[in-house]
Amino acid sequence: MLKISIRNGKTRAPRVDAHVVFAAGAGRKEALVSLPADLRARVAAAAPAELASDGAVFTLPLGEGKGAARLYILGAGKATEITPRKARGLLRSAAKTLNRSGESSAILDFSFALKRMDAAEIREFLLRSLFLADYGFPRYKSADQEKKPLKAIAIEPRGAFAGVASREVEKARVVARVARLVRDLGNTPSNDMLPSDFADRVMKEAKARGVKVTVLDKKAIRKERMGGLLAVNRGSVEEPRVVVLEYRGGKKGDAPVALVGKGVTFDSGGISIKPADKMGDMKWDMMGAATVMGVVLAAADLHLEVNLVAIAALTENLPSGSAYKPGDIVRFRNGKTAEIDNTDAEGRVILADALDYAAEWKPAVILDFATLTGAALVALGLEAAIVFTDHDALAKELVNAGERTDERLWRLPMWEEYRENIRSDWADMKNTGGRWGGSINGAMFLKEFVDPKTPWAHLDIAGTANYDRDYAGYPVGATSFGLGLTLRWLQERQVGTRGSRRGR
Ligand code: BES
Ligand code: MN
Ligand code: ZN
Repeated sequence: MLKISIRNGKTRAPRVDAHVVFAAGAGRKEALVSLPADLRARVAAAAPAELASDGAVFTLPLGEGKGAARLYILGAGKATEITPRKARGLLRSAAKTLNRSGESSAILDFSFALKRMDAAEIREFLLRSLFLADYGFPRYKSADQEKKPLKAIAIEPRGAFAGVASREVEKARVVARVARLVRDLGNTPSNDMLPSDFADRVMKEAKARGVKVTVLDKKAIRKERMGGLLAVNRGSVEEPRVVVLEYRGGKKGDAPVALVGKGVTFDSGGISIKPADKMGDMKWDMMGAATVMGVVLAAADLHLEVNLVAIAALTENLPSGSAYKPGDIVRFRNGKTAEIDNTDAEGRVILADALDYAAEWKPAVILDFATLTGAALVALGLEAAIVFTDHDALAKELVNAGERTDERLWRLPMWEEYRENIRSDWADMKNTGGRWGGSINGAMFLKEFVDPKTPWAHLDIAGTANYDRDYAGYPVGATSFGLGLTLRWLQERQVGTRGSRRGR
């Protein structure tokens, strides 16, 4: 990971290779004005007409003197208040440009305000984005490794970074390190990320932080009567796992926040098999599980004053002679039954047991994260995940946390009218609800497994968990979507309950 420090103007900082700035504005004049004042004159003499044009890179030798040897000006387009995603993209292209040019150290200036965020949120967002700017997943590339000479960045404490504190840099480093882990878990192909691999890796990370970890193997899962998880697992030769992380940073008697994640390490669809095209994307069908594990690990690193329990339900979904089949009726941990109409709607079948299991911790609130439905992509595309909850206040808090971390949520309803869609002639419900409102039907199914008195939100992250190309400043593959917004929500919740002891 990059070394990031805050540049100290007082001491004679050692000379670095590069100085990166961003130019914005309509036309050359505005572009020049957008640069740090001390650089303007030098650039004016040499700069091209379209200094600020989107994606343009202009370099200038700075010669002798302190500071950097070479100046890099990256075009950022016309606007000076930009979207967070654009900022993430700019930082990523800065890291790419510096690496390609063989620079190993750089000073970074950033002067734009970001939409929907205040100054502290902008600093947090930029710092995390910077720590993630060079993320890649080269583990399986033997030759042709991308060289990454860039090691250290010194932030100029002005512009968007005015007033930045080293404590903020440290916090961002901790979160970005966990985000990298979450992405690695997802990007690792399913042959090396079996349910047992996931459990082993998470156990190691939890132990290193003193976080309590419990792993249920198949025998223990049987004992818990998790009929849904066992049904989905029947097609696989690999054992299922349930990983439970418990972190107690809050008051002793305070009910924990429970986080539940879908961990299908590969989803072929099972007997209701998916088409071959893009089936490989289903190695990311465990991002919900990776996200909730990541939240607890990061909360521990940040010493958040909250009590947390996170439950990851892990299995493969494969067809075989022993696989569960359409028409089968499954009995869940809570005694309810469901007719399996489509074995590809497996996420809700495993989450049913995990949500019910979470109630054992008597949580104050439950959030679940799942790449649950392709319909989430149809509804919101790649820009937002869906949040479902019957608690207006919780919806507001989560949407707001998402706006401030650029992990955006949009709410859809769970009106009782939709319950009819999952009515079964043979069991308490069926696991599909027809084509219309596909994501809602999934949420309605999960709702059957949560005590209505416990505030609960379901986040369908199918559209945002991973991208099939570099997109919105994210690299191809896992995004770690949900980690930032959940940490933000937890921190705000902490502040809220500190004020009034009523809690939620
Ligand atoms: N994991 C998929 C959902 C998914 C699809 C995530 C595309 C990311 C990208 C889930 O298990 C699934 O297959 N859902 C079905 C449900 C249907 C059979 C009711 C779907 O969305 O088609
Ligand atoms: Mn599926
Ligand atoms: Zn799935």
